[in-house]
Amino acid sequence: MGQFVIETKGLTKKFKRFTAVQNLNLQIPKGALYGFLGPNGAGKSTTIRMLLGLIKPTRGSIFLFKQDLAKHRMEILRKVGSLVEAPSYYEHLTAGENLEITRRILQLPKKEIDKALEIVKLAKWKNEKVKHFSLGMKQRLGIAQALMGNRELLILDEPTNGLDPAGVREIRELILSLPEIMNATVLISSHILNEIEQIADYVGIIHQGKLLFQGTLEALKAKGRKEIIIEAHPLHKVVEFLQGKGYAVSRKQNRLYLSANINPEILNRELVMHGFGVSHLSENLGSLEDIFLQLTGEVA
Ligand SMILES: Nc1ncnc2c1ncn2[C@@H]1O[C@H](COP(=O)(O)OP(=O)(O)OP(=O)(O)O)[C@@H](O)[C@H]1O
Ligand SMILES: [Mg+2]
Repeated sequence: MGQFVIETKGLTKKFKRFTAVQNLNLQIPKGALYGFLGPNGAGKSTTIRMLLGLIKPTRGSIFLFKQDLAKHRMEILRKVGSLVEAPSYYEHLTAGENLEITRRILQLPKKEIDKALEIVKLAKWKNEKVKHFSLGMKQRLGIAQALMGNRELLILDEPTNGLDPAGVREIRELILSLPEIMNATVLISSHILNEIEQIADYVGIIHQGKLLFQGTLEALKAKGRKEIIIEAHPLHKVVEFLQGKGYAVSRKQNRLYLSANINPEILNRELVMHGFGVSHLSENLGSLEDIFLQLTGEVA
């Protein structure tokens, strides 16, 4: 380990007496597509603004590429591309002209514009004025701007906010392609669980300013409460048997639902050995929705 592109220690932000972000220890591995998930007001944008040096932490430290952001701000931020809130453009300029502005600021070669437009699939709209763009196209242009200049880290704050399903899908596919095309680490925030599930390999869950979970998507899913579904007979005897072993069993019609962390194979063998006829036994992992609810007490 130790290969964290983003690492924060005790990161805290207070607005007067209100603590928007509390004691955050983010660890985002190199090459990760990290989903930063939390309901409205959880503290995502506040965290992101600190990571981008736009606001100062009240307490704690931020290391990007192992360097202290407070000490090497300019040097670090050159390697970071970002999209925060709705990007603003010169509507009367074309896509190409808007990126030309970014190109000049960053002093990049001309070819960077076409490269970026190609990645976000806006190449054929290069000479079209931005005022004719859909919201989804504007978001893609914002991402093009964020990734110009071979950024090693991209930070995107709710890039699909406000888009229709088709737009969301386009952005999702684009983001999924980024680590490979760019060889970059990507942090993307969202309040939509399903979206993070489809995009991220690492997840951080923030709620009321606190990090409730951080790890791989797999690890998050494994936290789900397991349930074993059984159809066996004689049913009332099976219920007695399971209750006798101390399991919580509930019954719906001819099915039993057992919430316990036990190996279904072993359970199956046990039931058969006790002479029960088992016609169905399956394991139901808790959905991410359930896990999120368990963690936050809210629906994502
Ligand atoms: N400048 C500010 N002054 C006072 N309070 C603020 C300020 N910025 C954010 N907050 C508060 O901090 C909390 C976290 O806000 P933040 O914008 O980080 O949430 P978020 O997770 O990005 O939510 P959303 O999904 O709505 O974008 C909210 O309660 C918000 O009202
Ligand atoms: Mg926000």
